[in-house]
Amino acid sequence: MTDTPPIDVPHPRAIRSFVRRAGRTTTGQARAFEALGPQFILPWQPAPLDMEAAFGRAAPSVLEIGFGMGEATAHIAALMPQTNFLCCEVHEPGVGALLKRIGEQGLANIRIVAHDAVEVLDQMLVPAQLDGIHIFFPDPWHKKRHHKRRLIQPPLVSRLAGRLKPGGYLHCATDWEPYARQMLDVLGAEPALANTAPAPGFAPRPHYRPLTKFENRGLRLGHGVWDLVFARRAPA
Ligand SMILES: C[S@@+](CC[C@H](N)C(=O)[O-])C[C@H]1O[C@@H](n2cnc3c(N)ncnc32)[C@H](O)[C@@H]1O
Repeated sequence: MTDTPPIDVPHPRAIRSFVRRAGRTTTGQARAFEALGPQFILPWQPAPLDMEAAFGRAAPSVLEIGFGMGEATAHIAALMPQTNFLCCEVHEPGVGALLKRIGEQGLANIRIVAHDAVEVLDQMLVPAQLDGIHIFFPDPWHKKRHHKRRLIQPPLVSRLAGRLKPGGYLHCATDWEPYARQMLDVLGAEPALANTAPAPGFAPRPHYRPLTKFENRGLRLGHGVWDLVFARRAPA
């Protein structure tokens, strides 16, 4: 007898909310990586992050999960210079694109972790640490067999709520109606969260979230967009 597992048994793998896509990093993005990466990219670490040291100041902090090319991220960071934004993205050209915007706009209040945000949430953040969480247009995973990859599901939402300070907010947006309804159900069922919007429960787009190029195109084609803003309840 040996402890070695049989080779034909697949190695158990976590279900992730992303697949690593190939993508071309432009020369501008590559330059931004080189020039700004050391200052603005925080290495992934399986241990709590010293937020104050990472940003060089104590300030309200917002986590963003999946910033894509960083268009909304940079806009919001410029609008709210008094807030620290900890931003996670696994798509390398996206990280380069946000670094480029940081350079062009002279933003000082963003730090990037180029790693799975679920692991960042679980390992680098501690309970009741965040003032806000932004999850804009998370991958909708249209096919039923892929729904398990969607970010907004009860176990993750409970962990997101746990990282928020009482009164802190979770803001999600999507342009896929079935996912919007799932978000409403899942967030509505989380006891630590309260919906800030009256029935039926979708919120008006908060002023800080810009209409991105992608969203504008969708709106022109008559597609809908749904925002959800929930607040962390004070512990009973
Ligand atoms: C559909 S895009 C939306 C991007 C952006 N928020 C926007 O509004 O344009 C979703 C992004 O989330 C990223 N993503 C998905 N799961 C992630 C995770 N667990 N950690 C970090 N990024 C993730 C993907 O790489 C992708 O760039």
